[in-house]
Amino acid sequence: KVYAEPYRLQFHFSPPEKWMNDPNGLVYNQGIYHLFYQYYPDDIVWGPMHWGHATSKDLVHWQHQPIALYPDEHGLIFSGSAVVDKKNTSGFGTNGEAPLVAIFTYHSMEGEKEGRDDFQTQGIAYSLDNGATWTKYEGNPVIGNNGIRDFRDPKVFWHEASQQWILTLVAGDHAKFYASNNLREWEHLSDFGKTQGAHGGVWECPDLFPLPVEGTEEQKWVLIISINPGAPNGGSGTQYFIGDFDGEKFTSNQQEPKWLDYGTDNYAGVTYNNTPDGKRIFIGWMSNWFYARNTPTEKWRSAMTVPRELSLEKIGDDYFLKNYPVEQVDGLATEILAEDLQVAPSTSETLKVDGLNQSQIQLKTSSRDYTVIFKNDLDETLELTMDSTNSAFIVNRMKSGKVDFHSEFGNKKHVMPISLLDKESHELKILLDWSSIEIFIDGGIYVMTEQLFPTKPYTTLVIKNGSADSEIHLESIKQMESVW
Ligand code: FRU
Repeated sequence: KVYAEPYRLQFHFSPPEKWMNDPNGLVYNQGIYHLFYQYYPDDIVWGPMHWGHATSKDLVHWQHQPIALYPDEHGLIFSGSAVVDKKNTSGFGTNGEAPLVAIFTYHSMEGEKEGRDDFQTQGIAYSLDNGATWTKYEGNPVIGNNGIRDFRDPKVFWHEASQQWILTLVAGDHAKFYASNNLREWEHLSDFGKTQGAHGGVWECPDLFPLPVEGTEEQKWVLIISINPGAPNGGSGTQYFIGDFDGEKFTSNQQEPKWLDYGTDNYAGVTYNNTPDGKRIFIGWMSNWFYARNTPTEKWRSAMTVPRELSLEKIGDDYFLKNYPVEQVDGLATEILAEDLQVAPSTSETLKVDGLNQSQIQLKTSSRDYTVIFKNDLDETLELTMDSTNSAFIVNRMKSGKVDFHSEFGNKKHVMPISLLDKESHELKILLDWSSIEIFIDGGIYVMTEQLFPTKPYTTLVIKNGSADSEIHLESIKQMESVW
């Protein structure tokens, strides 16, 4: 078996070896989903950044590709995006072929060492062979820096209504929007966010896109902003704003942050450009800058979330962004390990299950008081609790396995407020891989993503139902196929 090292994830993307962080340049073109990523090919800790590269036809099976972008005289290659330049507005295309254009941040280590504030600029590169080889533009950088220390992570898309390219980047405590007709020359349009949302850390990795509001004719714009530190359960996290974009300005009357994921391990996530079916598909980096460098893997470090489809739901007068695994992930859930079990009110059930560490678990219940426990021979436990008294869902990984590699990993329970949860009944979908868990409540209205490092595989599942009147229906536990 390839990829058999301890903790190697079997149905999530991870690099063959060495360090990875953010997903970059998510774009679909001619049958291929591209996944570029922040990559340091010489060590399993962060170092001079390159863009690693992988491709997929279905978003779950990946082929590793050669490194796409190397550092050059302008600096390291930080996070960014990629577009298909269908009208060849950039002029990089030849023979009528639409070029792929990557837009990324240059980070000059020399500039930083000299104590300057202008060491991050934006550059572009193009590919005429669907991402296999790349040429940097000789006119780089295309957006210079006039003294903003954190100035990075450009995300570009084609704005149909104004017939131009729109670029969003972050500048410390706010987002900036730019426009271009040719991807080379950019005009600053507007800023957003200085006084809105969470500001416990630096804003990173923005993304701006429209989404239909489920069940209506309405469309809203979503601005995703990663923040580090300042997430609800500590360290790195991803907030979002719902509002409107008129081709120049993003506006939102939202003051308080909303969080895409309450777990500690979903960061720097952004969405695909140019998906064939118009779906809005998100991938995040499954780690946290608190302890990303310290997790107990040896050959490689960290993985991506499963690809998730985003949707918008209006509840009362407010809008919420949902994220839920794309249906191809369901396609990996094949062999049934257990199914159709009822946990009666005020009782508990214990199941011995081989293969739990690579499984999908689905349950449905109107109980508001229960705990799902994963356990191994060493009595290491991972506990998920629905707690009606505090109106919260809680992940406790404090005794889940190896936790002492960093003081911030196993120091507390992680809490997600669930005030919007349907009173009647709710569903839980859990994806457990060898060193991660992803929990989706009610189609992704509430989500938690966490890393964990059990010393031995979990073999026991306990469901404790604390409700005096509601059953818990364990619909199924299915084995997930390895994608490698
Ligand atoms: C987010 C981030 C980005 C930056 C990249 C550097 O995790 O800090 O802001 O471009 O990582 O690797």
